[in-house]
Amino acid sequence: MKKLVARVVLIICLLASASVYAEAKLKVKHADSKTKKEIIVYRSPTCGCCGKWIQHLKENDFTVVDKVTTEVQSIKDKYGVSRSLASCHTAVINGYVIEGHVPAEDIETVLTLKPNIKGLSVPGMVVGSPGMEMGERKDPYKVISFDNHGRLGLYRNYQ
Ligand code: CU
Ligand code: CU
Repeated sequence: MKKLVARVVLIICLLASASVYAEAKLKVKHADSKTKKEIIVYRSPTCGCCGKWIQHLKENDFTVVDKVTTEVQSIKDKYGVSRSLASCHTAVINGYVIEGHVPAEDIETVLTLKPNIKGLSVPGMVVGSPGMEMGERKDPYKVISFDNHGRLGLYRNYQ
């Protein structure tokens, strides 16, 4: 009987410490994602939709470092964004390159899952993507992942 009581007590202690541990871990994770959501956005001074995309990021709790430059092409060259992947603005967060009107949600999953890619792109300027809203119209688009070797992948498909 004594043995059984001791066992129950032990189990309760283990459960309690496990939940404290889980809670502590959760807190660390929250702090991390807050400090790590700083994104540098390179955009041309004449780009209107870039400003709208920046607004979309801010609404999703990103801290935006807004870099206005007339040299957007040299930024794309520097970060390995090929012509076929190119859009208006180029952004950098935690070592990942974000090209064009990529939804905040997809940047979030990259920050969380840390895939072995160089970055994400929504090539061109797709109507209905974040920052490219035009009334009710929403064209389908793909979020493309790319790596250092020019390999592309489908990250997410918006229909
Ligand atoms: Cu744009
Ligand atoms: Cu832009």
